[in-house]
Amino acid sequence: MSEKVDGLRGVIAGESKLSLVDGDKGKLVYRGYPIEELAGNVSFEEAAYLLWHGYLPTLVDLEELKASFRLTRPIEEPMKQIMRTLPKGALPMSLLRTAVSAAGLLDQKADRANENVTVETCERMTAKMATVIAAQWRLRLDEEMIEPHPHLDHAANFLYMLTGEEPSPAAVAAFDTCLVLHLDHGFNASTFSARVTASSLSDIYSAVSSALGTLRGRLHGGANTAVMEMLQEIDLPERAESYIREQLARKIKVMGFGHAIYKVQDPRARVLKKLAIELAEASGQTKWTDMCLKIEEVMMAEKGIACNVDFYSAPVYHMLGIHRLLFTPIFAMSRIVGYTAHILEQYANNKIIRPECNYLGGLDRKFVPIDMR
Ligand code: COA
Repeated sequence: MSEKVDGLRGVIAGESKLSLVDGDKGKLVYRGYPIEELAGNVSFEEAAYLLWHGYLPTLVDLEELKASFRLTRPIEEPMKQIMRTLPKGALPMSLLRTAVSAAGLLDQKADRANENVTVETCERMTAKMATVIAAQWRLRLDEEMIEPHPHLDHAANFLYMLTGEEPSPAAVAAFDTCLVLHLDHGFNASTFSARVTASSLSDIYSAVSSALGTLRGRLHGGANTAVMEMLQEIDLPERAESYIREQLARKIKVMGFGHAIYKVQDPRARVLKKLAIELAEASGQTKWTDMCLKIEEVMMAEKGIACNVDFYSAPVYHMLGIHRLLFTPIFAMSRIVGYTAHILEQYANNKIIRPECNYLGGLDRKFVPIDMR
């Protein structure tokens, strides 16, 4: 117990059949399928089914899952009431974490959730999370919440619930791809938080709340919002190079770059970059991707660091008309599939997660009464 273990890098902290992240080869695999096989070919629902069940759904399976999502998407009145009392201007991620915690209060069986949790619980939490995120956004804008559309699938319905307008097929396809790419990612920080909480046999709402609290930070899921803030601050592609050089000179980390596991390009970033460029060309809005390409070039030349999933997802969401404060909740709206799959896996073969630390404090100190200190 004397070797320094910084941030648990390289430590195998458990076993999982859900996803593989190979940092040396730049590979991400869900249940045996490389991400490149899935992104653009399967919908969010198909990918979620794959993660929960271990195999891709048949048409009948898929219809059942879609029906279950449609049925459980609406949020009940007590939850709406709670949401109306929360501070409107709070960060959407804080509101989401609070809503998940409140959902646990409203669920009569929550205290024994580790005994009752099934794939249906995972489906329900996934379906509702999207509705909660959209409803909270509407409340922030002083607009009425929009009920889920009775016929739209998950990606299309979420975009619909933000504005009340049915999105274009191209927007739905792009958004669906983003959701598939964010579904799961091994023992990332927030998923690991969920597993630690579940490992004490706490309930699923507590485990997901832990995960959301972890996802929010800018070194993790919060980076996508921070990337858009940076792009909006730079504003002009010709200012990108000097801005990044200045950040590096001041030893400020550039959001959307670097990764704890990937030593080569994050495979999700490759797909998102292509998607961003396609959207930019189709809309004529090339400003953001021009800026991104320049930033990538400078980061590679100066630091040899590639971009991660959060870099190109920012311009993609922005071009889809989504506000930057929603980027991290959207990450959560997809990763909830991973969280719940990992929680199920943890419950099924549980051992409380309890690592040790290198104690660096003193020893054998003698007690001194308070009046003599
Ligand atoms: N910008 C500038 N330098 C970076 C960097 C970034 N985004 N990411 C890493 N580096 C540099 C560090 O400064 C450090 O350099 P040094 O050895 O000269 O001090 C080196 O690369 C290693 O970085 P470190 O922070 O120790 O790596 P890590 O594995 O602990 O961190 C991240 C991984 C993701 C937390 C880190 O890369 C980061 O903060 N990135 C920005 C936030 C982000 O995009 N997060 C989303 C991840 S998907």
